[in-house]
Amino acid sequence: MMAHARSNAAPPLVLMSGITQQFPPNTTALENVSLSLDHGQSLAIVGPSGSGKSTLLAILGLLEKPDGGDYILDGRALGKLSATDLAQIRKNDIGYVFQSFNLIDYLSVEENILYALTIKGIRGSQARDRMHRALENVGLLHRRNASPSTLSGGEQQRTAIARAIVTAPKLLLCDEPTGNLDSANSNIILHLILDSVAANNAVIIVTHDEHIAAACTRRVVLRDGHLRETPGGGTL
Ligand SMILES: Nc1ncnc2c1ncn2[C@@H]1O[C@H](COP(=O)(O)OP(=O)(O)OP(=O)(O)O)[C@@H](O)[C@H]1O
Ligand SMILES: [Mg+2]
Repeated sequence: MMAHARSNAAPPLVLMSGITQQFPPNTTALENVSLSLDHGQSLAIVGPSGSGKSTLLAILGLLEKPDGGDYILDGRALGKLSATDLAQIRKNDIGYVFQSFNLIDYLSVEENILYALTIKGIRGSQARDRMHRALENVGLLHRRNASPSTLSGGEQQRTAIARAIVTAPKLLLCDEPTGNLDSANSNIILHLILDSVAANNAVIIVTHDEHIAAACTRRVVLRDGHLRETPGGGTL
């Protein structure tokens, strides 16, 4: 009997084609961007300021709907889904580390982490254990009861990273995740992020740091809204 060909190869986690995004009056932030990302990959997006990196991350994270193009996330075409379905996918499958952190200031550091777990239905001692480990990993256990506004920029950044990683999202999106960190902390955080990549998820990191880009499995450059792949390190 003939063996069946493997027909259940996983589709890419991210499959984008022809994505376009314009802002009034006349900015084309993204033009005909296509991108495919497999499970288990880490992708660095580099490019000059204003080239469309955060815009692309917002679309990847379902925070913005593009003006044109198709986006299939883990086999689901997103174009036709309702706002409720999109919110559900955002909640269950996507983690963000924003360029501006977006920590909740009336919650303490540990409450920010616990809140992210609660949203995903993880509560009680399991949530506390995971929170504890996440804060330990970013070196912030001693600041667990602090309000985010009393933290240094780098500490806020590490809190935001702990909050994103603690839920083990399918797609982790990081916008300049080490922009406020010294090189020792930057290395620790980079490895925490990359270690969170497993067979069933992927990470995308927007960065200006060539060291970080080189540590990712793939690297693309955005320039004036155009994306191209640069194997082996193209110029910025
Ligand atoms: N909401 C908006 N309204 C109007 N223009 C916008 C908006 N968001 C972004 N833009 C413009 O789109 C372009 C791409 O912006 P984006 O924030 O994606 O750049 P970036 O590559 O992330 O830059 P940086 O490295 O400085 O963070 C810029 O010209 C920006 O001014
Ligand atoms: Mg940006």
